[in-house]
Amino acid sequence: MTTRTPDKLLLRALRREPVERPPVWLMRQAGRYLPEYRAVRAQAGGFLQMVRDPELAAEVTLQPVRRFHTDGAILFSDILLPLEAMGMPLEFDEGGPNLPRPLRTRADVDALAASDPRTSLAYVGEALRRVRAGLPEDVALLGFAGAPFTLATYAVEGGTSKSFLELKKLLYREPETLEALLARLAEMVTAHLLFQAECGAEALVLFDTWAGTLTREDYRRFAEPWTRRIIAAVAPRAPLVVFAGQGEHLLEIQLALGAHGVAVDHRTSLAHAFELARGRCALQGNFDPGALLLPPAEVARRTRALLDSVRGVPGHVLNVGHGVLPPTDPESVAAFVATAREFRA
Ligand code: CP3
Repeated sequence: MTTRTPDKLLLRALRREPVERPPVWLMRQAGRYLPEYRAVRAQAGGFLQMVRDPELAAEVTLQPVRRFHTDGAILFSDILLPLEAMGMPLEFDEGGPNLPRPLRTRADVDALAASDPRTSLAYVGEALRRVRAGLPEDVALLGFAGAPFTLATYAVEGGTSKSFLELKKLLYREPETLEALLARLAEMVTAHLLFQAECGAEALVLFDTWAGTLTREDYRRFAEPWTRRIIAAVAPRAPLVVFAGQGEHLLEIQLALGAHGVAVDHRTSLAHAFELARGRCALQGNFDPGALLLPPAEVARRTRALLDSVRGVPGHVLNVGHGVLPPTDPESVAAFVATAREFRA
């Protein structure tokens, strides 16, 4: 039932075909910086209520597309929902996600439920179908999932962490237990991404937000094999972009993973990343989300400078290096998107 429309600008850029201008979307383009998002959230009562209601999830997915006319719409959802589907209670409070029953032992890992996303995450599929129906025909719909390593950090720590103490304990003292967990997560993530493609996602993003906390050597053992497995299973169905937060030391490895696209952190020079990529994949990025706190005219100037630095290079998808920050002025995001739309390669 998937209708592939390879003519959309974003999909063409991911395939490194010639484009008249770079496509643009933003990580966390739906969210608290938008007054229309805050209104829906207040009505729904909370983040998870919005995510689990396909009508509300579709509405907030479409909000930034309507306001800015981005070339991509990323489904409003969260990377932690598959953990919930595997039996881990999940809450969101003001401090972020909370998983009150973290996994610490091999027995905990073995007790995770086998879960078919077609049933346990059916609301995600329904939200995708609704977005697809309401989307302008030139805008591509993106699905996503967390990469196994990043999901493991949440499952083991029980939330967001600064030191990753529990995860590192497991990694160094009981690496086989961590590998058993990563195997279970990779299986779930693969099924979830394929399910999203079936429900109308035309491109997919794999978020490895905390991969940068690994040494290169540990990335090769605890992240790369699972990421490769996911890419091999999913990329034939829909182009896949991999993201690693603060992952400059991992860039060479990521460029060789076989993904259609690699998201580049704002700390890395985009032009340099294109040199390293040598035409193997498209690159997404990498405007500093902090610079979106500047006034619109200055955002436009800096956006043009970034686009000029890679003018004419095929396979660029303009984005931020990480998610839009809550105090961002929507007018500054509007300037960022409009600058890309007016730019001529
Ligand atoms: O617009 C979009 O980008 C699509 C929706 C989206 C959300 N989360 C919504 C969200 C996406 C793609 C994610 C992915 C996600 N979730 C990641 C990977 C990307 C990244 O940012 O590195 C991670 C690590 C999570 C886990 C997560 N969810 C955290 C740590 C938090 C709390 C931090 C925060 O910003 O509040 C969330 C909550 C969350 N997910 C919000 C949104 C819009 C904020 C919810 C709210 O309070 O309204």
